[in-house]
Amino acid sequence: MSAPETYTGNRGLQMEEPLIFEADSPGLCGVDFPDADITSDRLGGVKREGDIGLPGMAEPQVVRHYLRLSQKNYSIDAGFYPLGSCTMKHNPRLNEKLARLPGFAGLHPLQPETTTQGALELIDATAHWLSVLTGLPGVAMSPAAGAHGEFAGLMTIRAALEDRGDARKRVLVPESAHGTNPASAHACGYAVESIPANDRGRVDLDAFRAALDTDVAALMLTNPNTCGLFEDEIIEIAEAVHEAGAFFYCDGANFNAIVGRVRPGDLGIDCMHINLHKTFSTPHGGGGPGSGPVVLSEALTPYAPVPYVVRDGNRFRLIEDEGASDAKPFGRIKGFHGQFGVFVRALAYMMSLGADGLKQVAEDAVLNANYLMASLEDVLSAPFAGPCMHEVLFDDRFLADSGVSTLDFAKAMIDEGFHPMTMYFPLVVHGALLMEPTETESKAALDSFIGTVRSLAEKAKAGDAELFHEAPHLTPRRRLDETAAARKPVLRWLPPED
Ligand SMILES: Cc1ncc(COP(=O)(O)O)c(C=O)c1O
Repeated sequence: MSAPETYTGNRGLQMEEPLIFEADSPGLCGVDFPDADITSDRLGGVKREGDIGLPGMAEPQVVRHYLRLSQKNYSIDAGFYPLGSCTMKHNPRLNEKLARLPGFAGLHPLQPETTTQGALELIDATAHWLSVLTGLPGVAMSPAAGAHGEFAGLMTIRAALEDRGDARKRVLVPESAHGTNPASAHACGYAVESIPANDRGRVDLDAFRAALDTDVAALMLTNPNTCGLFEDEIIEIAEAVHEAGAFFYCDGANFNAIVGRVRPGDLGIDCMHINLHKTFSTPHGGGGPGSGPVVLSEALTPYAPVPYVVRDGNRFRLIEDEGASDAKPFGRIKGFHGQFGVFVRALAYMMSLGADGLKQVAEDAVLNANYLMASLEDVLSAPFAGPCMHEVLFDDRFLADSGVSTLDFAKAMIDEGFHPMTMYFPLVVHGALLMEPTETESKAALDSFIGTVRSLAEKAKAGDAELFHEAPHLTPRRRLDETAAARKPVLRWLPPED
């Protein structure tokens, strides 16, 4: 089977790179050390007895070895990265530059407040922007990621309920929510109840109303949801939640689709985490760092975790101690102030775009996803009618009887020079392919991606299954353990048993 001729990726991806030990050139060294003239035994008798076995290499060899290894990583700086639910967008270099300013990068978290006024002001200003954009007055800045924000939000809700003597036991989580939502609710000690999606990919209102009672602490809705759809019955949902005396939690990690257009507080949301690393700059992926501030309604604000920044005349103070104010914080969930470098990038992003620029981010992200949907729906299969929001969902019906699975299709994308889309998530549909183009891709980039997906879909339908089963052909490592077992249908998510 010959490799696809349309490959456009980096050639570095195709070449084998030996281990640095295999490239050993004995005797070579990147630096010349002078002979040691220290005669006294400064290590208290500890001596190296033999060779430590480092490979011999000149400096250029070392540099080239690591550069070639780094080129084997696919990255947003190298090409289009349509990973749904992840917002892999271009992050302006300006924000990186600002985060590296010595006054920010060199701060120590234990410095006295008198020497960190600028940093505290930056945290306060970032919180202020988040509050204005979401229409919610309280902001807890310390959570270190989206899921951490979910946990912090639910702990805040639990503290508010307990304070009114109303220790409720259940949290409702729609099937179209992000997978971290049921996990966070469970970690917070709640019984999780799954609410099915309707045939439009949104919350099934009847099932939701049937599950709602006075034992429900919160509904955790992801909006836009993981099918890339806006929950258009959100006002009815909010009213029902509040009538039952519960709190309305929103997973706001997909805020990129609505920022500047909709204020979640106006929709009746009481508590929402924001993934700064998805919406407001900071490269997403590679294990962090992220940041998941939580915005809170007036009723929940007193229970937010410490620490938080308050303005006191011309000074800024960091409140770290539960007794220091009238608030009733549920406690602390993170050492120090939160992910400060991510705050710098977020504030730089918001200030450089401004209110109109942020609104355009949302509009362009949604426009790009709908362009993909309109350009691909005749060759792929879209389970739900559009328009979609910032990401577009397809299922695997278009692959029926082709012998090609979602996994095979995604692997074939690698040979074509593209990072695959998100596969098998969300679980609401079979064999999901979730694509998020983001607002930072050009029409030319999208057209090239569309051309590739169309051509692969046609090859799959034409019975060229073997090409897909063996993909990727052009990477130094092919498939690892992702063969037959991984092609089995994925089970729908089930709530944990009590
Ligand atoms: C909708 C949604 N919610 C929550 C999360 C969890 O965020 P994190 O990975 O920062 O914990 C993600 C991840 O990107 C997400 O897409």
